[in-house]
Amino acid sequence: MARILFLLSALGFVSALDQQVLSGPVVHGQHKDKPLIDTKSFQKTIKGDNLLARAKELYEIAKTSQDEWNHPTRVIGSAVGHQATLEWIYSTIAKLGDYYTLSNQSFPVVLGRVNEARLVLENDVSKSMVPFALSPSTPNKQPVFSQLTLIANDGCEASDFPSETKGSIAFIRRGSCFYSNKSSLAGQAGALAAVVYNTDDEQFRGTLSFVDPDHVATVGIALGEAAPIIKRLENGDSIDAIVYVNAELQEIHTTNIVAQTTAGDPDNCVMLGAHSDSVEAGPGINDDGSGTISLLEIATQLTAYNVTNCVRFGWWAGEEEGLLGSEWYASSLSKEENAKIRMFMDYDMMASPNYAYQIYNATNAINPSGSEELRDLYVDWYKDQGLNYSFIPFDGRSDYVGFLVQGIPSGGIATGAEGIKSKKGEAKFGGKAGDWFDPCYHQLCDDVGNLNMTAFVVNTQLIAHSVATYARSLDDYPKRSLEAAADNGQFGVRDMKYRGSYLVM
Ligand SMILES: *[C@@H]1O[C@H](CO)[C@@H](O)[C@H](O)[C@H]1NC(C)=O
Ligand SMILES: *[C@@H]1O[C@H](CO)[C@@H](O)[C@H](O)[C@H]1NC(C)=O
Ligand SMILES: *[C@@H]1O[C@H](CO)[C@@H](O)[C@H](O)[C@H]1NC(C)=O
Ligand SMILES: *[C@@H]1O[C@H](CO)[C@@H](O)[C@H](O)[C@H]1NC(C)=O
Ligand SMILES: *[C@@H]1O[C@H](CO)[C@@H](O)[C@H](O)[C@H]1NC(C)=O
Ligand SMILES: *[C@@H]1O[C@H](CO)[C@@H](O)[C@H](O)[C@H]1NC(C)=O
Ligand SMILES: [Zn+2]
Repeated sequence: MARILFLLSALGFVSALDQQVLSGPVVHGQHKDKPLIDTKSFQKTIKGDNLLARAKELYEIAKTSQDEWNHPTRVIGSAVGHQATLEWIYSTIAKLGDYYTLSNQSFPVVLGRVNEARLVLENDVSKSMVPFALSPSTPNKQPVFSQLTLIANDGCEASDFPSETKGSIAFIRRGSCFYSNKSSLAGQAGALAAVVYNTDDEQFRGTLSFVDPDHVATVGIALGEAAPIIKRLENGDSIDAIVYVNAELQEIHTTNIVAQTTAGDPDNCVMLGAHSDSVEAGPGINDDGSGTISLLEIATQLTAYNVTNCVRFGWWAGEEEGLLGSEWYASSLSKEENAKIRMFMDYDMMASPNYAYQIYNATNAINPSGSEELRDLYVDWYKDQGLNYSFIPFDGRSDYVGFLVQGIPSGGIATGAEGIKSKKGEAKFGGKAGDWFDPCYHQLCDDVGNLNMTAFVVNTQLIAHSVATYARSLDDYPKRSLEAAADNGQFGVRDMKYRGSYLVM
């Protein structure tokens, strides 16, 4: 079976922020001689040819992992694919001289790999079983043979687990709390493993989110397979099952790269980010090579301008394993540093082949104040271009989560992943109803040919607009305050069902 890489930010480590101010010819007054950024002229600097040339370079980088992984990938932990991506980003910015201050932030992650997993329900090998990310192995990496115990309610309270859970396999309904909660409670009740069944007939990819000594080996199945079993367990039948998970956990370090303009008010920064890593299965040229490239191109073109407010770019690692790098970065900010970030703009998947122009529906009602103004900047721009757009849920699928939790206004745009384009969507955006927005999402075919260059250019121009608008003036944009910084009491408790591409509940 395919090897699956799972990682987790290990708690309790001190982050190393190695700051390096690049030396180079310091030309005093350099920025003063440059025109102040303005959106019309800045958008014109975005050219499809430049974006495509960078995409081709990135694909060559992904190919360097051929020997190690047998195919192109930029997954974190890859000795060359991801590492070479980092070096490429770093050197691209370093070449721009003293326009930017460049820094690396190294952070630890636990890399988990499920080598093998199997579930047998009585005599049938489960077809819908998916092992959870960060699941531990079954004891001694051996199959567990035991009876299933039907857990009451959603298995979110210790009292839901009857005494016969001990020594058995807990059979738990999805919902109400994190998978991590269910697995820990099962472990505390003495279960040998846990099976979480869905409330509909979808297969699902869950994650236990972090490592916890109470977790037991945990897998998910679809309701279709679970329904007849639930009925029989409710009738008091005894049902045997086998759960087998062989997984490994290994700690590694990976790196976020952050670049900030030396010009502009350093107490008022416009921040934008993309993720530097791909999944193991493929080169990730759309996901998120596209956002990575948009940021590199914008950082390059920006050097011809002066800015009023500082502009800070972040290239996050470990997004695909659960938004690890962005969360590490945002949570390591002091209150003072936090308050300097006026907003965070997330740019993940800018060029899906069957694209929609999607805007995260980030409202001020449930997000830090300023999120909605950012959302509306995107709306106004698409309208001005005569383009359609759609709002999509702001539910945890990309790197904005860590910022929101720390009280930083956030938002962003995307072009769609494994969602299916509707008939209405086809009328609005062209492309093909019934297909995924990105039919190569998280697959080997996410290569240069997977980019729609029309969407790539349009969205990179919109990113340029967002940077130019706020780098020029934040006068009309909601202020941050020290009190609101790191106010995770207010925003940290938001229920988001995703953590990157994994479901957490
Ligand atoms: C432009 O650059 C210089 C510093 O290099 C600065 O003094 C000036 O105020 C900057 N800002 C604007 C808005 O022109
Ligand atoms: C930062 O990381 C990049 C990519 O790994 C590397 O090329 C560069 O040398 C690092 N710089 C510093 C100052 O550590
Ligand atoms: C679920 O886990 C979270 C931490 O991951 C914890 O804060 C919460 O109290 C847990 N809930 C239950 C019902 O155990
Ligand atoms: C956007 O989010 C708000 C709540 O924050 C909700 O009321 C509204 O219906 C959402 N719009 C769409 C199109 O999903
Ligand atoms: C916007 O969507 C409408 C259908 O809802 C469609 O008729 C129109 O052509 C679309 N505009 C563009 C620029 O694609
Ligand atoms: C990209 O999208 C445009 C507009 O929908 C379409 O005309 C074009 O054929 C697409 N390009 C590719 C390479 O798929
Ligand atoms: Zn992504």
